[in-house]
Amino acid sequence: MDDLRFRPVAEKDLVLFQRLRTDPEFWGPGWPGFDDPGQPARRLASDGYFSESNSWLVAERGPDAVALLNWRTSSIGAPRLSWEIGIVVVPERRGQGIGWRAQAMLCDYLFDHGPVQRIQAGTRVENIAEQKSLVKAGFQLEGRVRAAEFADGEWRDGLLYSRLRTDPAPDLS
Ligand SMILES: CC(C)(COP(=O)(O)OP(=O)(O)OC[C@H]1O[C@@H](n2cnc3c(N)ncnc32)[C@H](O)[C@@H]1OP(=O)(O)O)[C@@H](O)C(=O)NCCC(=O)NCCS
Repeated sequence: MDDLRFRPVAEKDLVLFQRLRTDPEFWGPGWPGFDDPGQPARRLASDGYFSESNSWLVAERGPDAVALLNWRTSSIGAPRLSWEIGIVVVPERRGQGIGWRAQAMLCDYLFDHGPVQRIQAGTRVENIAEQKSLVKAGFQLEGRVRAAEFADGEWRDGLLYSRLRTDPAPDLS
């Protein structure tokens, strides 16, 4: 049995959220550039990283924080009936089965705790690890989104995936 589990963001995680804003390797492909490293402490103090439109959890394996997970208002569907999710696995823990499991667990969590029908996730055409992770997490490819993001000096297409409440959940054991 995998010991991956979620917990709310804590003070000790602020360094990871700061790295999102200061360390391109931590973010992964398409880093948007430097941003205010003081924002994570302010966000934690203001709402604990939970809001109606944008929330975060930390995935732990053993004593270590291994991934940051986000769900936010989706570009498609009604608020609270559809979410868009995102994930960053800490660089030294990538390729260990955390990414797909954590995204599958986040879907289960969101389906359990709200009426959401549709969860979507977008990724870059070049991000093979995330495409494989999403499929293993029970997502289906919906299609190619043209000029989805501006990154690394140019407009880039993206791929859009979704998992519906009625889709089969993968076996996490
Ligand atoms: C993308 C990401 C979430 C994947 O999580 P992960 O824990 O590294 O991936 P997993 O170990 O769960 O692997 C899932 C699948 O991807 C494959 N994979 C992992 N890393 C890979 C890589 N670098 N290249 C190709 N395939 C890869 C695995 O082999 C596995 O597929 P398989 O079962 O067919 O062998 C993680 O690498 C990450 O956080 N990257 C930076 C941020 C990012 O890209 N976030 C998502 C996009 S918004």
